[in-house]
Amino acid sequence: MQQLLSMNELSVKEIMTIIERAIQIKSGSFTRFEEKKYVANLFFENSTRTKLSFEMAERKLGLVTIPFDVSTSSAQKGESLYDSCKTLEAIGCDALVIRHPEEAYYSQLQGLNIPIINGGDGSGSHPTQSLLDLMTIYERFGTFDLDIIICGDILHSRVAKSNFQALKKLGSRVRFVAPEVYQYVHEDYTYVNIDKVIDTVDVVMLLRVQHERHDEGMSYTADEYNTRYGMNHKRYDRLKDKAIIMHPAPVNRDVEILGELIESEKSVIFKQMENGVYTRMSVLEKILGGKS
Ligand code: CP
Repeated sequence: MQQLLSMNELSVKEIMTIIERAIQIKSGSFTRFEEKKYVANLFFENSTRTKLSFEMAERKLGLVTIPFDVSTSSAQKGESLYDSCKTLEAIGCDALVIRHPEEAYYSQLQGLNIPIINGGDGSGSHPTQSLLDLMTIYERFGTFDLDIIICGDILHSRVAKSNFQALKKLGSRVRFVAPEVYQYVHEDYTYVNIDKVIDTVDVVMLLRVQHERHDEGMSYTADEYNTRYGMNHKRYDRLKDKAIIMHPAPVNRDVEILGELIESEKSVIFKQMENGVYTRMSVLEKILGGKS
């Protein structure tokens, strides 16, 4: 694997290799890179989990993280993304982790001789979030032969798109729940009423309402949204015994899910964040050729 831009480019075998390696790493089976390797994390959009868990993964593997702060970089003087990346390649970085608001920003980086790991491109893809979600599901169920609903702002969600691509390949039955205004219209996407299926699904994947990508504010109050589409006690109590609740976070508390259910027994939201570190270690090892 030379780089990671989207889940479309990974075969089932490659996805499973990354997940199984992440599970091994989680059990403590990994070694730090012997040779010095340098990684820069370029985040042109805000992030807590992706940026910091990449940083944690890099440190655990003994990689050197080269700090890149967009607000004090020459991007502020109009330097292009290509030129910033070419500079990091020229000064000796071995890989770049990039998050950018532009969908498929990486198409402008062809010609670079440095691996790119996509940390999220606009409403396009978020492959490492998808891989950590898959690891969390696989760790719990040991199979992807599952019924899954993805609920929320599908239109603006790179997580929904990446997970749908991957879960379909892996054999899961994925359906969507969303108000009409947040639906991504696609021939393969089936929308259902959450209350008609909530007691039949294995995984409920909730998504954040992405206010920053909306031209207008949300037309629902938090209460209305939660009552129609979100996780609340009524729906929680109807879940199958072994069902899990996921959310990539950050969470709009009391909108997608009631605050008091975020750390409930069926919620794996913080497990997803923990697994993000192991998944990103697995990806970095694979791309930078570490020991496995
Ligand atoms: N889930 C996720 O991508 O979170 P951040 O935006 O905080 O990185």
